[in-house]
Amino acid sequence: MNVLLLGSGGRESALAWKIKQSPKVERLFIAPGNAGTDSIGENVAIRATDFAAIGDFALRHQIDMVVVGPEDPLVKGIYDYFKADAALQHIPVIGPSKAGARLEGSKDFAKAFMMRHGIPTARYRSFTVDTLDEGFRFLETLQAPYVLKADGLAAGKGVLIIDNLEEARRELSHMLNGSFGDASRTVVIEEFLSGIECSVFVLTDGNSYKILPVAKDYKRIGEGDKGLNTGGMGAVSPVPFADETFMQKVEERIVKPTIEGLKAEQIDYKGFIFLGLINVKGEPMVIEYNVRMGDPETEVVMLRIASDLVELLEGVAAGTLHEKRLEIDPRAAVTVMLVSAGYPQAYEKGKPISGHDCISDSIVFHAGTKKSGDAVLTDGGRVMAVSSYGKDKDEALAVSFANARRIAFEGKYFRSDIGFDL
Ligand code: AMP
Ligand code: GLY
Repeated sequence: MNVLLLGSGGRESALAWKIKQSPKVERLFIAPGNAGTDSIGENVAIRATDFAAIGDFALRHQIDMVVVGPEDPLVKGIYDYFKADAALQHIPVIGPSKAGARLEGSKDFAKAFMMRHGIPTARYRSFTVDTLDEGFRFLETLQAPYVLKADGLAAGKGVLIIDNLEEARRELSHMLNGSFGDASRTVVIEEFLSGIECSVFVLTDGNSYKILPVAKDYKRIGEGDKGLNTGGMGAVSPVPFADETFMQKVEERIVKPTIEGLKAEQIDYKGFIFLGLINVKGEPMVIEYNVRMGDPETEVVMLRIASDLVELLEGVAAGTLHEKRLEIDPRAAVTVMLVSAGYPQAYEKGKPISGHDCISDSIVFHAGTKKSGDAVLTDGGRVMAVSSYGKDKDEALAVSFANARRIAFEGKYFRSDIGFDL
């Protein structure tokens, strides 16, 4: 079969690597991809949100399945676009419908969904500019720190955690007046939860589901989890505290009611669900839903799936996921992200990269890279993810750190404390 994968980051490199291992796959295309995906499959110069061009390409190249990496095309309705077109509707899109993608596209919707289905999450209320005064009063009922969330997609920057009430009031007013554009015309204010976070990934065909290996990512730029938030600086799987008892609670209290809730609300959902969880004294609570895989979590989760991913995705598309087996690799997997100097603020691009193609004991997933003749250049803040296996996380980390040092580009930075808190 021919598969078209949408996206261009480290997540898509890892998905491409795993998809390409399937004996079922003849041709794998990645739109638009990066310098690394082009040697796993074939890059196509189409943006992941250009639905007309994607549909056209899918028909011309006999695509049998579209796998969507990032949230943007899902929130914009690529699933529905294919379903509504007589020529495209036979091609399965792995990802939720536009209605399902609201779990990520609207925090207000996600919170209301959790309330309707009794899914544990922080106490909250939503406000608009018309209810600003009520927002101020709600803030006064909470304890510091205050958690303010822009309702819509804000490139991972829409959550503010603020220590004092005065500043929280000011920020609420800014947000409702459009400091994040339309994304913050509605703001969710919620109770602060204290605990350690992890990422749980669920693959569903809308009826049955498989829980994929649990991962933990490291979001801050600085060691010891200090400094600005990034897209993610590294990840580890498995996560020791996500043991059998904890995961049983996750499945019963969160996964099952989520799938049942989607069904009860007649929301089409055939794809990945990413549960951002926090462990509050042994009790899992939902911090957020995403409707895609995580980045850099995918760069460890794919290493730990021993089964044929394409076989599982076929089950998702056909509604036969319950007949498929998910086998997990018992080894630990870790990834260490190499980033450009200055990231997550302003950084330069176009720096030549060397050393990445002579590494054999890690899997080097390209993220922000591009080709220029024979050279590979940096082309983003997160440049490459160095993933490794080990009998435990420490063994795997030693390999990733050694290889992270071997790869060179001007301004390279990585966190050498990934996994420190586990
Ligand atoms: P989100 O984009 O919703 O994942 O939020 C970004 C980050 O903010 C999360 O990964 C958490 O670290 C933090 N966060 C979000 N909501 C809360 C909360 N209610 N309590 C504590 N931390 C939170
Ligand atoms: N690593 C977090 C995310 O992909 O949103």
